[in-house]
Amino acid sequence: MLEVKNIHTYHGFLHVLKGISFELEKGEIFAIVGSNGAGKSTLLGTIAGVYLQKEGEIIYEGQNIGKMKVEEIVKQGICLVPERRQIFDSLSVKDNLMLGAYHRLKTSKTIQKDIDRCYELFPKLKTMEDRPGGLLSGGEQQMLAIARGLMSNPKLMMLDEPSLGLAPLIVKDIMNILEHLREEFKTTIILVEQNVRAALKVADRACVIERGEIVIKGMAKELMKDPRVRDAYLGGKKESSFIS
Ligand SMILES: Nc1ncnc2c1ncn2[C@@H]1O[C@H](COP(=O)(O)OP(=O)(O)OP(=O)(O)O)[C@@H](O)[C@H]1O
Ligand SMILES: [Mg+2]
Repeated sequence: MLEVKNIHTYHGFLHVLKGISFELEKGEIFAIVGSNGAGKSTLLGTIAGVYLQKEGEIIYEGQNIGKMKVEEIVKQGICLVPERRQIFDSLSVKDNLMLGAYHRLKTSKTIQKDIDRCYELFPKLKTMEDRPGGLLSGGEQQMLAIARGLMSNPKLMMLDEPSLGLAPLIVKDIMNILEHLREEFKTTIILVEQNVRAALKVADRACVIERGEIVIKGMAKELMKDPRVRDAYLGGKKESSFIS
């Protein structure tokens, strides 16, 4: 479904992604882990078209989307649930959801049906549909951010640190939702997570990024057992053993 080939992305003069390559099958959950500043958000932003890569190709369902604009990429069925949720605080829950379907607001009659589908997945959001987004708890805002992403009817959903700052029980709920999306709608998922244990549990395959490069890639179960991953991310040594 997705082939990321040797991408290089810069922020100004800063060379952030240094030749990232990976492939995704339809319906897979792929986890990306790595320490702060490794380039995880830049990678998701590059696939979503927020940042332009200088080199490399991003092939999605057979076409090169590497130079497409964000809104074109959303129309192809790719959505990004951004880091720190970025909910519109003063807009109601329902209006936040409607904005997720912005590119088809004028033409589609299925918007209400899609909102109802979100409410089925997240019943709590229905009970607070008129409440301003800014008054929701962290967990509720994360649910809203995922639901807003779903309003674009994505085939590929990318989530940037959905568990950030949330209690373990809520993290479990979110991981369950991701599994449900994959089972029910065959949604392909890229999950960037600092909660490495939770991410590797739910993912099929995973990779570790350090300083803009993939330093390890494989089945999530194998990464869970890898001593380097255990030491750096699963309560072993404090310092990342990928950085010398
Ligand atoms: N918009 C930007 N402009 C300039 N530099 C940026 C920008 N975004 C990120 N950077 C820099 O690029 C590098 C990679 O940042 P990025 O946010 O992709 O890392 P990350 O792996 O997502 O980190 P974190 O775990 O803290 O979210 C960092 O050195 C960061 O300071
Ligand atoms: Mg980030």
